[in-house]
Amino acid sequence: MAPDPPNPQQLPQPCRDILIEYSKQVTKLGCSLFELLSEALGLASSHLNDIGCADGLATICHYYPASPQPELTIGARRHADNDFITILLQDHVGGLQFLHQNQWVDVPSGALVVNIGDLLQLISNDELISVEHRVISSSVGPRVSVACFFTTGTVDTGKIFEPIKELLSEQNPAKYRATTMKEFVQYSHSKVFDKSSLLHFMV
Ligand code: OGA
Ligand code: NI
Repeated sequence: MAPDPPNPQQLPQPCRDILIEYSKQVTKLGCSLFELLSEALGLASSHLNDIGCADGLATICHYYPASPQPELTIGARRHADNDFITILLQDHVGGLQFLHQNQWVDVPSGALVVNIGDLLQLISNDELISVEHRVISSSVGPRVSVACFFTTGTVDTGKIFEPIKELLSEQNPAKYRATTMKEFVQYSHSKVFDKSSLLHFMV
């Protein structure tokens, strides 16, 4: 959806208008969240938006068919997202879980879920930690979810991302090296969304 919006004709007609409108509203919400996250980090409220955290948005609609044998399959494997934040809408079927203190915790449906992604962990120098999550398979379905990823993906914007200088000190040096979004996303794809891809960018 951003920075290069699709030609609306390329979107399926039944969800065309709503996808465009929903993405617009999610972008607004994302900008507000980045202001709050900036303040939480002790930065000027515009900081994360100024460096481009809300420049890119990928809206991905997932369709999980009902599984006749859920114990033999997975919905979405354990991973952390490779973006700044993700705003996720899951339907009433549920099934999303996040990892908290080594335990899988169900995320109730009926609310937007906001995930911290690996790239926000990198630029916050581990002040904010990305969340591992998965979707369990169910015999109830189909299940539909809409995930909005704040990322410019593999578009080459030329922007460099690195631990934010204001958050660093002699006692708290940069844990990660600088990267572009494109390099980061390409590397994490090669790791199939494994959270350990952050290790590759450690100094
Ligand atoms: C994702 C994801 C969860 C869901 O797309 O990265 O975690 O509920 N989706 O579909
Ligand atoms: Ni995810």
